[in-house]
Amino acid sequence: MTDSATLDQLADRLRSAHAVTVMTGAGISAESGVPTFRGTDGLWRNYSATDLATPEAFARDPRLVWQWYRWRRGIIGRAEPNPGHLALARLQSRMRAFTLITQNVDGLHQRAGSTRVIELHGNIWRARCASGCGVVTDAAGEAAGDEPAGDQDPAPVCSCGALLRPDVVWFGEALDQSRIDLALRAAQDCQAFLVIGTSALVYPAAGLPRVAASAGALVVEINVDDTPLTPHAGLVLRAKAAEVLPALESRV
Ligand code: OAD
Repeated sequence: MTDSATLDQLADRLRSAHAVTVMTGAGISAESGVPTFRGTDGLWRNYSATDLATPEAFARDPRLVWQWYRWRRGIIGRAEPNPGHLALARLQSRMRAFTLITQNVDGLHQRAGSTRVIELHGNIWRARCASGCGVVTDAAGEAAGDEPAGDQDPAPVCSCGALLRPDVVWFGEALDQSRIDLALRAAQDCQAFLVIGTSALVYPAAGLPRVAASAGALVVEINVDDTPLTPHAGLVLRAKAAEVLPALESRV
């Protein structure tokens, strides 16, 4: 566990900052029981996320990809925000300017009470037309009142006749430009940038800490393991997010 003098100093920095920006990845939801992408628990039927979260996988076998997303939705639906999510929501309510950027698609930050969350990679609870007719649903394509689709059900179909797909960003796809712009501005304008529970491998998200550091912010990594960001972080807290964030937030 991180020593309390370090947490006191970081809390001082957060209190004196005009703006604080936080970016989270799958590690913050690990203690809610949501599998991370690159951890050993991330495998499903021997497929890894990188095998399934791609436009090519969906073109080849949309039903398989939907089965995986329905499995993840089942886990996320049963999961609860953990003390790390809750601490970030409390921190937001204390700070003058606070931006939360997440790569997660699970919606647990919002359920914990965080607002104006920038979801860089979309949200697993929405689906949209795979051929781009513009339809976006708030569930996996089921109409209101329908039974949720079962594991073996086929991929859902849009009202235009094309397939629906999860409203998430897949490998090789571009992110929504307005969300990147908001995230970039929040990285440039903050004095402290906390990077929590991400392997810092997937761009453009992985580039945001460098933007913040170049603009003079203190970059703090909170992670149980080393990442490519570790040597560049101004401060590294080698700890579980759900343990260290409440300890930090209570000092701010
Ligand atoms: P990863 O699964 O790549 O990384 C999770 C990180 O969290 C790792 O560095 C772990 O060491 C760390 N970690 C695990 N448990 C933790 C804990 N309790 N507290 C703190 N850290 C912990 O997930 P992401 O970095 O989020 O993108 O992955 C980035 C993107 O790649 C995802 O958004 C997704 C994925 O494929 C798309 O689907 C586009």
